Amino acid sequence: MRSAIRHLQPDTIQYLKTRIGNMTDFKLANNLLAEISGIETFFRSQEDFLTLLEILEPCFMVSDGIDRREYGDFQTPPELTDSICSYLIAENISPDVIIEPTFGKGSFLLSAIKFFEKVKIIHGVEIHEPYYWQTKFSILEYFINKPELNKPKICLHLDNVFEFDFGKIERFIGSKNVLILGNPPWVTNSELGSLNARNLPNKSNFKALNGLDAITGKGNFDICEYIILMMIKLFSKYNGHMAMLTKNAVIKNLICDLPKMNYNIHNTVAMRINAKEHFDASVEASLFKCSFGKNDNRSAFSCKVSMLAAPNVVENTFGWVGDKFVSDMTSYGTHKKYDGVSRYIWRQGIKHDCSNIMELEILPYNKYRNGLGQEVDIEDELVYGLIKSSDLNSPVITQHRKYVIVTQRMIGESTTYIEYKFPKLYRYLMEHKHYFDQRKSTIYKNKPLFSIFGVGEYSFKPYKVAISGLYKRSNFSLILPVNGKPLMLDDTCYLLGFENISEAVFVWAILNSIYVQELLASITFLDAKRPYTKDVLMRLDINQVACDVTYEDIVNQILSLAKTMLININEGEWIAFREQFANVKNREGNQPSLFACRKGVSV
Ligand SMILES: C[S@@+](CC[C@H](N)C(=O)[O-])C[C@H]1O[C@@H](n2cnc3c(N)ncnc32)[C@H](O)[C@@H]1O
Repeated sequence: MRSAIRHLQPDTIQYLKTRIGNMTDFKLANNLLAEISGIETFFRSQEDFLTLLEILEPCFMVSDGIDRREYGDFQTPPELTDSICSYLIAENISPDVIIEPTFGKGSFLLSAIKFFEKVKIIHGVEIHEPYYWQTKFSILEYFINKPELNKPKICLHLDNVFEFDFGKIERFIGSKNVLILGNPPWVTNSELGSLNARNLPNKSNFKALNGLDAITGKGNFDICEYIILMMIKLFSKYNGHMAMLTKNAVIKNLICDLPKMNYNIHNTVAMRINAKEHFDASVEASLFKCSFGKNDNRSAFSCKVSMLAAPNVVENTFGWVGDKFVSDMTSYGTHKKYDGVSRYIWRQGIKHDCSNIMELEILPYNKYRNGLGQEVDIEDELVYGLIKSSDLNSPVITQHRKYVIVTQRMIGESTTYIEYKFPKLYRYLMEHKHYFDQRKSTIYKNKPLFSIFGVGEYSFKPYKVAISGLYKRSNFSLILPVNGKPLMLDDTCYLLGFENISEAVFVWAILNSIYVQELLASITFLDAKRPYTKDVLMRLDINQVACDVTYEDIVNQILSLAKTMLININEGEWIAFREQFANVKNREGNQPSLFACRKGVSV
């Protein structure tokens, strides 16, 4: 309460002193404040009331000064909540009941009071006590200055949204029109993990992911997504709407899960906002708006995208086309026949979570240096050139900046051989064993010492075609061996490995062709942290494109990428590539190889 008072105008403080300063019972003060502002139970106890009387003179200045990262604390500026409410009014949304599940400093609640003149009941929940008080006082101040306005009944709850009993609100909704409004915390469960924080729902695996997905990337979710889903599950059975600010990634997940999860919502829209300007956050975010109630039409599994500043200009619609999830439903039609199943198995690069020890640079006198700045004297055999996302910046990659130690040739392989075959490397790894022991991910538990992931037969193929998962660019690079050794990629990249250079060149040309590039543009979400994923790449039907293009097309494509690569192909091989494709069965771990006998030429 003390920190909340400093946000009040001097006139409001004076007003409070005059109206309640002489009262002795908190219940009398509560009656008066409910009359003035609509806020129910302003003081929860006599102690609350006495605290206020004490701090009204003199006015304390207290700073918040605590780490609020765990609470995903990005307070929405009043200008933005005003323009959101004004947009909702323009959409003919006129709620009787408003619920703000994490109201913070209350700017959504204040805008709602200002704009929705007919609202009868407002409920808000917030975990942080200074915000709880600040909101109460801001609303009180608002009504002190505008006594003539309609006062809804306002119930503010200091509670944890994951534990709050929403049932007691539900009882009063009946046939009334409800609006769920707000901006839930911007934090993911894995960020909470790294902060050792506990601001989590009890049931973290709420999407019922299988064990592996839950411990890898797919198990990571935004707390905001959980709260939005919680609100949908609780309130979508009533008449009304939801309007929540959130990251675009959360909206994409919601729409992607629509058919599977059978959420009771329709008319979904994403109104883009400038998160940098409003929140100083480098993330793409929007106002997610939907209507409650089912719409059984499958076209309902889509979301229109506009800017909040120009709501009537639809920029794009994303969602489900049949059984395919696409980022641009309009342009998708052009190349959708290439959206199938890849005969090639895309792989993620090497993951070790120990870059200071496993990644090396080379010093001028041919010694290695690790990420701790230490000179490293080890045998060369298990050291390979390493390509990271930022290195995938040209059509053909023939050099590398970094090296990586590759301790296994397949996942789970014993690493005991290192001790007797490469004693210097063994000593180096053992000296730094504690860095490996500190790896948090559960994938390393009960695995051989110095284990890595994202490794297999494919890692050791000489020729690779790869793309960065992180960057927006959709170009694929051809990666050639250096000094007879294959280059490795890190886990931010996806790759196909080839024994034969002709096959690698054909696939690289096809992936960079307009057919695949345009298809990728209509199925990838460039505002995602990782626009290109294994799931997206496995949809690229390389042989369908191969069937539709001529040898001349391929030659022209190669000419536009790196004409020196032409020496690695000829028309006979192209014909074999196309024809034999049809007979190759796709089995996980068994990528087709059509040119098993011909070794390629490098640069
Ligand atoms: C992104 S801020 C937005 C605040 C407010 N809705 C607004 O739009 O300005 C998220 C808010 O959620 C609150 N919060 C975080 N975890 C919470 C929890 N478990 N229960 C209730 N509130 C929580 C934070 O304290 C913070 O005020």
